[in-house]
Amino acid sequence: MPEPMPITSVWLTCQQPARDQRRGRYVPESSTHPGKMLPHLAAHAIATYTAPGDLVLDPMCGSGTTLVEAMHLGRHAIGVDIEPGFTTLAQANINLAATQGAPGTAQVITGDATGLLHLAPASAFSAVALVLTSPPYGRYTHGLVKTTGSGVRKRAHLYGEREHGNLAYTSWSGLLDGFAAILDASYQLLRPGGTVVITCRPVRRRPHDFIDLPGELLAVAQSVGLIPVQRCAAMLAAVHDRKIVHRASMFGLMAARKARAEGLPVHLLVHEDVLVLRRGEKP
Ligand SMILES: C[S@@+](CC[C@H](N)C(=O)[O-])C[C@H]1O[C@@H](n2cnc3c(N)ncnc32)[C@H](O)[C@@H]1O
Repeated sequence: MPEPMPITSVWLTCQQPARDQRRGRYVPESSTHPGKMLPHLAAHAIATYTAPGDLVLDPMCGSGTTLVEAMHLGRHAIGVDIEPGFTTLAQANINLAATQGAPGTAQVITGDATGLLHLAPASAFSAVALVLTSPPYGRYTHGLVKTTGSGVRKRAHLYGEREHGNLAYTSWSGLLDGFAAILDASYQLLRPGGTVVITCRPVRRRPHDFIDLPGELLAVAQSVGLIPVQRCAAMLAAVHDRKIVHRASMFGLMAARKARAEGLPVHLLVHEDVLVLRRGEKP
């Protein structure tokens, strides 16, 4: 295990609720993706670690947040997702950004990103300035709930129907091995000195395991040769008048209440870990 890195910067990425960040900028069907990145988080990472005209890659692009924010900032982007339903959604979001005059361009590819080197266009090799991504970690962390006459019903909490190859449905070691393969391939697409930004949270797996996913992913990233440069906290809550205003969904509140009722000392998460790594300068 590598030494834990101190948090060096806090990103105020949730001063506006997620739905307000998306309204008018993403198609309404985007709500069906269970684990979207905050648009302000993606925009902050892209603005900080790239320049206009640069190429950004998200090998697990889901609804296309990285791609859309890159386009609006005048960057070009490539996204990959294994679920055709999500790449269709990402394409709809790309089309919307284009109609809104976003100066950048984006391409989305359906496929298993562990085979990224077979999917990426030749022009992307050693050309990517930033890899910005977030792995799927479990079916039950996110989602929407709807109140019905007979109680509450969960929806949009699954990463598609396909169990084959989607890292959301593999074993824990399968997730880490798959993510290592994706990062290894991404390394070869990065230009020398290019940046990798991974966002993730610690997770609980039943019954009582608390897993340091950020620490595990940092170890995976280092194992493929990436050099850690910064660890940041991206807020999932607002900060107003020095107070934290939580933005947890009803789904998140329900999960925390249930866990506490079972005797687990669970608190609402108000930030996501952001791991920043770099490819060495030498080709
Ligand atoms: C946390 S979500 C990413 C969400 C995205 N950042 C957004 O804002 O919508 C992780 C994504 O990884 C995708 N995924 C899982 N296994 C994959 C694989 N082997 N290859 C490509 N994509 C994969 C899932 O389908 C899911 O959409």
